[in-house]
Amino acid sequence: MQGAQAVDVNSQALMLAKQNACLGCHAIDKKIVGPSFKSVAMKYQGTPNAQIFIQNKIQKGGSGSWGVVPMPANHKLSNGDLVVLTAWILRGAPSSNH
Ligand code: HEC
Repeated sequence: MQGAQAVDVNSQALMLAKQNACLGCHAIDKKIVGPSFKSVAMKYQGTPNAQIFIQNKIQKGGSGSWGVVPMPANHKLSNGDLVVLTAWILRGAPSSNH
C-alpha cells in the first residue's frame, strides 16, 4: 500500500504549507515572492545534502539561493513537520491523487 501512504504524506505536507503561510510566498509551479516548489526540487536534484540544507533554510530563513529577497525564519515548525515539508518540496510538491 505504498501508494495510499504517499497520498497521505503529500496531503499532510500541503496542509503544513497552508498552515504555516508558506503558500503566501510560494506556489507549487509558479514563482510568487519565493521560487516555486517545483523549481526548488529541480535545482536540488542530485544535491547530496539538500534535505538538511533546505530544512535549515526553511527554519532560519535567509537569501542568496534565488536572489536577494530573503525568506523569513520559521521557528514555529516542529522538527518532524520540517522533515515532512522539506521532503515533499524536494519531491516536487506532488498533490494527492484525487
Ligand atoms: C515572506 C515570504 C516567504 C514565506 C512566508 C516563505 N518563504 Fe520560502 N522563500 C522566500 C524567498 C524570497 C526565497 C528565496 C530565498 C533565497 O534566494 O535564498 C525562499 C526560498 C525557499 C526555499 C528554497 C531555499 C533555497 O535556499 O533554495 C524553500 C524550500 C522555501 N522557501 C520553503 C518555504 C516554506 C516551506 C515556507 C513555510 C514554512 C516558506 N518558504 C515561507 C519567501 C518566503
